[in-house]
Amino acid sequence: MKTTRSPQMTGCSRTRFPRSPCTVCWALHLCRYFGEQSVQLAGKRVIELGAGTGVVGILAARLGAEVTLTDLPLALSQLEVNVSANMPSSGWPSSPPSVLPLSWGEDHMNFPSDWDLVLCADIIYLPETYPLLVETLTHLCKNGASVYLSSKMRKEHETPSFYEEHLPSRFNVELVHRDDKQNNNIYKASLRTDQ
Ligand SMILES: C[S@@+](CC[C@H](N)C(=O)[O-])C[C@H]1O[C@@H](n2cnc3c(N)ncnc32)[C@H](O)[C@@H]1O
Repeated sequence: MKTTRSPQMTGCSRTRFPRSPCTVCWALHLCRYFGEQSVQLAGKRVIELGAGTGVVGILAARLGAEVTLTDLPLALSQLEVNVSANMPSSGWPSSPPSVLPLSWGEDHMNFPSDWDLVLCADIIYLPETYPLLVETLTHLCKNGASVYLSSKMRKEHETPSFYEEHLPSRFNVELVHRDDKQNNNIYKASLRTDQ
């Protein structure tokens, strides 16, 4: 998969960027998990939040999912470039991924709630956004979507508190994979029925 970041993206768009040598590596944890678990992506309606390079969503689209990639406005032109660079030679099996702005806690009402899967790769590192992200996930998952989240468990960014406090306030949360060496967890979550 070809991905690039534009010069203005070195700060991971306008937000703070976690001190990670390679954010794509954390997204690849989720790609690998989908392959190992044979998670069915073809035909699914998928939205990715904080897509960044778009690696996970683009993989899903190449496998036949109908994908919407979202991020802050500044990140979108690079996402478009990565989508074009990764079009299969035979064309997209479903449709080309859509690229749209979605700032957590602000724009989610512009999106429907009928997704099959919501993907989140390495987006849990800004504690001030945790309540906003839960609000956005709650809207997107109203009709039963499953959320997959891959995170390096950075104590300095309070990442564990997102999974132990913020997300469980509205979602059933299951740890489905842990990489001890990389300190990376993958969670699957679904909106609690009492919400
Ligand atoms: C560390 S990067 C991860 C990118 C990509 N998911 C990956 O794993 O390669 C975090 C992404 O979250 C996005 N982001 C940060 N705060 C956001 C917010 N409030 N709303 C929407 N996206 C946000 C950033 O623009 C960035 O693309």
